[in-house]
Amino acid sequence: MQDRLKELQIEALEKVAAAADLKELNDIRVSYLGKKGPITEVLKGMGKLSAEERPKMGALANEVRDAISGQMEGKQKELEEAAVQKQLAAEEMDVTLPGRPVKMGSHHPLTSIIEEIEDLFIGMGYTVEEGPEVEKDYYNFEALNLPKGHPARDMQDSFYITEETLLRTHTSPVQARTMEKHQGKGPVKIICPGKVYRRDNDDATHSHQFMQIEGLVVDENIRMSDLKGTLEVFAKKLFGEDREIRLRPSFFPFTEPSVEMDISCKICGGSGCSVCKGTGWIEILGAGMVHPNVLEMAGYDSKKYTGFAFGMGPERIAMLKYGVDDIRHFYTNDVRFLKQFSVEE
Ligand code: DAH
Repeated sequence: MQDRLKELQIEALEKVAAAADLKELNDIRVSYLGKKGPITEVLKGMGKLSAEERPKMGALANEVRDAISGQMEGKQKELEEAAVQKQLAAEEMDVTLPGRPVKMGSHHPLTSIIEEIEDLFIGMGYTVEEGPEVEKDYYNFEALNLPKGHPARDMQDSFYITEETLLRTHTSPVQARTMEKHQGKGPVKIICPGKVYRRDNDDATHSHQFMQIEGLVVDENIRMSDLKGTLEVFAKKLFGEDREIRLRPSFFPFTEPSVEMDISCKICGGSGCSVCKGTGWIEILGAGMVHPNVLEMAGYDSKKYTGFAFGMGPERIAMLKYGVDDIRHFYTNDVRFLKQFSVEE
């Protein structure tokens, strides 16, 4: 029995020493030290031993067990360490490799121009107002001195949703809404950027959906010269101090008198070229003194209050400022076009 135990010890220690991984080591543990293992088997024969020999054999069996499990513990540590090292080697990375550059995005050119115009007017004390794109016929037309059946409604072909609602054809309804909110009292000084919709066939200069920025100032003693001075500051700040402006008489139902503003052509400096169609001037926006009917409909006393208004198209302004020849470039979002407006850090 003694010899058998010694043999088992030698055999087990050899196997432990040769174990290649933790699983193999565990299998050895189960097969030698487990309840069904050979050591347990040998000890079952202890009953046959004399009372004198029994404790000696028990002590020897414990020694053998301790020797095997002691060796196993050491081997286990060794194998665990090896496994960690192997994993570290597999996951090693070169932290000195250069990174992949992250591409910077940029504002859409229309967003940039609208923000530039907003900032300009905010600097002159204006606040920014917004209104709904699905608008009531009343605010889009009637409150702007365009009653039903008025021929000037044909100037703006509309997308009607119901008889009384449509996609707004301009940002001017925000004027009417804002004045109405003020209930005929106190000054108004706003700009209103937003999307507008018209039943137009898309081409290089037309789009069924485009942007507008509306401006409105109402107070006591607002005069045409205030309008002219404001537009002059705006045009020079946006296009350059060397640009001239001129106001041409025009017609809009919501203003009286009405004007269109031109700026001198940058390309030819006023002598006439293909961009300004030989005139030396480029049309930028429509404007005028708020029609008394519009003031009255919103609750303002037109004897006490006067005002001016203007409306411009940021696409047209961006086209002139950046030399873009087709309005559709703003909506098709070809990255080759958009990239030209990105600001490299
Ligand atoms: N609403 C006009 C349009 O879409 C533009 C306009 C002209 C707005 C004159 C105004 C204005 O406020 O005074 O064509």
